Amino acid sequence: MPTLLTPALDAVLDGLPADTLRRATASLIESYRSGAPPAEQVLRDPGTAAAYAAYRMPATHAAVGRALRHATELAPDVSVRSLVDVGGGTGAATWAVAEAFPGLATATVLDGSADALALGRRIAAHGPPVVTRATWSRTLLRAGTVVPEADLAVVSYLLGELPDALQATVVDAAATAAAALLLVVEPGTPRGFAAVLAARSRLTAAGWHVLAPCPQDGPCPVAALGDWCHFSVRLDRTALHRRLKGGRLGHEDEKFSYVVASRAPVQPATGRVLRHPVTRKGLVQLQVCHADGSVRRAVVTKRDPMAYRAARDAAWGSTWSDRPPVIASTRTITSPKE
Ligand SMILES: C[S@@+](CC[C@H](N)C(=O)[O-])C[C@H]1O[C@@H](n2cnc3c(N)ncnc32)[C@H](O)[C@@H]1O
Repeated sequence: MPTLLTPALDAVLDGLPADTLRRATASLIESYRSGAPPAEQVLRDPGTAAAYAAYRMPATHAAVGRALRHATELAPDVSVRSLVDVGGGTGAATWAVAEAFPGLATATVLDGSADALALGRRIAAHGPPVVTRATWSRTLLRAGTVVPEADLAVVSYLLGELPDALQATVVDAAATAAAALLLVVEPGTPRGFAAVLAARSRLTAAGWHVLAPCPQDGPCPVAALGDWCHFSVRLDRTALHRRLKGGRLGHEDEKFSYVVASRAPVQPATGRVLRHPVTRKGLVQLQVCHADGSVRRAVVTKRDPMAYRAARDAAWGSTWSDRPPVIASTRTITSPKE
């Protein structure tokens, strides 16, 4: 999807001294290297906030956008008029929500970093009106923090920065605030997935329903296999990103784990493709998470032309319909414990 974010980032960041940005990007990468919650605020000055916007914001924006697309494909009529972006930093998720929901009328970004919020506001000045008008609120998330109510609450790339006990507190506060939908996104790593899975469990235990990516609300079969459920979105690397990070590739693949939960009952997908499909001559092999709570490998051959065409069009993250003739042969992948 074309986005105004890249020109907005260029407009705000282009004049900054390249050396300062490069040093701040290196310090940011160092802070995130271990994957553990950082000991101190990561976006602690204007330089690290700018480095975050240049180096990470396009990727987190793309991941949130893709997760929302999975959700709106299943619930095209869902209406989101208000957003609260919890730990929203420079506002990547707010941009993505505004693109996914043209009816969005108000957005509030909460974050503990004054520098991230100040920069986010400047970038937002180049965005669509609802992003430009957003409220940027300095809020330290801790026990007892009340999140303002909105149709949709987004918690994007935040939980991994919080100690475990605070992760649950923040998910609960976001769920209390969310009138209709809650999106949690984390890096597509075992640790990121664990945080998403814990959030999913809290939400389903509280009566929420999973809209995407899961086809059902019960225990996660991917976790039972000792694996982690994640997806990938490809984005063009901006000229600024290439200058900061080096490398010649014109794109990067952002891996992410996510859950979109709904307060109201939903019709989730009948199945979700969990890996890049493997295509061989006359045959496509898909690994699919099914509504019956199992993960099965589907082998689709040319003998079923309609199913074969659907399988050829399928991608990692697509929905998949497990109609009996579609699958030429299946093998149930059972948990090591079973
Ligand atoms: C990795 S950034 C994610 C920013 C944004 N949500 C995105 O997807 O690009 C994490 C953000 O969480 C904020 N943060 C971390 N701990 C926080 C806390 N206890 N209270 C408020 N904000 C916090 C940081 O300041 C930072 O902006």
